[in-house]
Formats: sequence, structure tokens, C-alpha cells
Amino acid sequence: MNNIDQSNWVSGNVADITLSAIKKMAMLSAKTEGAASLAWGLPSFRTPEYIRKGTAERMETDPEAGMYALPDGLKELRDLVAQLHLRETGVSVDPDKNVLITAGNMQGLNTMFHVITNPGDEVIVTDPGFASHINQIKLCRGNPVFWRLNEDKGWNLDLNRLQALITPRTKAIVLVSPSNPTGKIFSREELLEVGRIAKKNNLLILLDDPYRYFTYENKDKYFNLASEEALADHIVYLFTFSKSFAMSGWRLGYMILPGHLKKEALKVHDVTMICTPRISQIAGSVALQGKMDHIVEFEDILASRRELIQQRLDRVPHVFEYVEPEGAYYVFPRIKAEHKDSFDFCLRLLREAKVAFTPGSAFGPSGENHVRMAFCVSEDNINLAFDRIEGYFKP
Ligand SMILES: Cc1ncc(COP(=O)(O)O)c(C=O)c1O
Repeated sequence: MNNIDQSNWVSGNVADITLSAIKKMAMLSAKTEGAASLAWGLPSFRTPEYIRKGTAERMETDPEAGMYALPDGLKELRDLVAQLHLRETGVSVDPDKNVLITAGNMQGLNTMFHVITNPGDEVIVTDPGFASHINQIKLCRGNPVFWRLNEDKGWNLDLNRLQALITPRTKAIVLVSPSNPTGKIFSREELLEVGRIAKKNNLLILLDDPYRYFTYENKDKYFNLASEEALADHIVYLFTFSKSFAMSGWRLGYMILPGHLKKEALKVHDVTMICTPRISQIAGSVALQGKMDHIVEFEDILASRRELIQQRLDRVPHVFEYVEPEGAYYVFPRIKAEHKDSFDFCLRLLREAKVAFTPGSAFGPSGENHVRMAFCVSEDNINLAFDRIEGYFKP
């Protein structure tokens, strides 16, 4: 039995990717008794009551609630999504041709990378950018191409560098604004310029937009590139219920995409999961039929946490130097304290101070020497983490 060679069971594209450092740190911190974790962007909020109750009621009264749905999702939810998209962007989309219900943005993105990537194709991601995009592209045998952001200018887009990164193998550019991990909101002008370059080079833009409603005093700065109708053929817009509806465990999101791409995405969707869980789709319908005023409450709480974490960071300038996050709920400070690399620094902090952050290197080469802190956890948790940091790094 032990003589059987199993070394070639795992394919190269799976062997070549790693479990994300976000989840690695979350798992390690779960094993560390009493750890204060700011490693995972998992909001502390409970799914709002109107969604819980409304869904439970539908479970009782809807005889089909436990059944498969058609692969692109329930018509009632696709209609509501199209209405929301119109309110948000002014752009009218066809629920049948352009809306696909996903099991969250991770699943939506994974579907799109399968649709667009041949082995060796390139996808441009911001550096730093969301760690899972990098691995998803690799999983599809594509090559992530890192587009370095300007840390000196608060992590904005370096538009002068974009054209030079585009090759005949480039398929798409992925954008997240407000950004995970930097909290940056890219300006309208920057985004329109990316749109112009994408159109000129016949590229797709994947707009991964989980943090759209967390923009604090920077509401006017947020610009949804999907509102630019002239770019409609070049944009896949992905929204998730995970963050602003506190529904991360329901696994629910949607994509707005050109009709011909929806047809291709449906094939992947069908062959990998048949449909997004119907009960979650029902919950999404309940969510979008409500007033959605919990979002303002969530944002107010996050605004206090953002203020708190900045106050606490200001007290440890010998340990961290940071750029103020404009949106989302992450801050991405540079490590000033002595360290070997960001991963080693995070492991040491967890072991010796019982504080968990995510190493910046997980978010691309420019993330090295940084850590990502998620301030969506309770104020007590933030305070506990920083009390420990202050104790551990005495000036
Ligand atoms: C940029 C980005 N994309 C996607 C996701 C995952 O979203 P979902 O829960 O919808 O899969 C996250 C979660 O942290 C994220 O920050």
C-alpha cells in the first residue's frame, strides 16, 4: 500500500497555489487561545433581522424554497438586482441577458477567470491587491501581472505604468475600489482613464465591488465605472451581499455582464455548482425588498472603528506608519519595527503577543513590509490588539 506513488495526483496548477495568508492567519489565530485577531475581513455584524425573519417565513410558505434554481438565478432576484443597478448607476440592464446570480464574488470571479483564461494568458491586478485574485488566476493557469500602486500618493493608480504592462496575452484588468487591502478609493478620472485604456486595447475590466457602501466622508469620491454606459461591453461588475448585508455565510452575490459573456459564464456556473443555493437567493430577494437602512448603521459603526484604529496606530509610530483608509474596513500600514519579512513578523506577533494581522506580502510584491488590519471587528478586539502591541513594542 505504501509503495503506491501518489506524487502525481495533485495537478500543477493546484500544487502551485497556496491557501491564502488571510485564511492561514485566521486558522492559526483560532488555534491560539485568547488571540485578538484583525486578520480576516469578517464583519462582526449579524445578518439583519428583516432578512432572517423574511427568509424563515419564505422557507415555510414557499414549497420550492429547498429546490434547485435555474443556473442564472431566480427571476425575482435578477429583477431586483437590475432595479438596484439602475438606481446605483443609471444604467438599465436586462435581467435575462445581463444578470447572473453568484455564490459570492469569489465564485463569480472564479467563473470569469475560467471563461477568459487560456494557459499563459495575463490578467492585470493592482499591487497590492486582493490576495485571492492572484491565486484564482493561477488556478486557471493564467499569469497575474502586478500593477504597482503609488504608496507615496496614498496607494492611487499609477496610470503611466498601465499601458506598458499590456501584451497580446492580456485579457483583463481587475479593480477593487474601495480597495482591499489599502482602503483606497480610486478617483473618477483614474477609473475613466483605465476604462479608456481597456477599450483601446480591447480588454475586459472586472470590477469587484464588495465595499461600495463603506465610503464614510468620501461618498462623493466613489465612482462606479459600471455607470459609464460606453464601457458596458468591457465591464463585468460584481457585487456581494457578504459585507453590506452581513451575509458572508449565505454565499450570495451577482454579476452584471455583457450578454455573450453571460452565456459562457452560465456553462461554468452550471458545470461547477448548478445554481447558487436557492435559500440564499430568497434571502437576497428579501434583503433587496427591504429599506436597506441597516447599511447606514453598519457604516456608522465602522466609521467609529476606523477612527479608533487610527488613534491607536497614532500611538505606535515606532511600529507602524499608515495611510488613512478612505473606504472599506482595512488599513495597510508599513512595518517600522525591526522584522525579517511581513509573514515572519505576523507569526511572531501571534506567537509572542497573541495578535493576528495578515502579512502584506500576500497581497502582491509591494505588500511586503506591510500588514493588513481589518477593523470590522469589535472595538474591544481592536483595543485588546493594540494594548498588546503597545506592551510588546515598548518605545
Ligand atoms: C476584494 C474582495 N473580493 C471578494 C471577496 C469575497 O467576497 P464573497 O464573500 O462575495 O465571495 C472579498 C472578501 O473579503 C474581497 O475583499
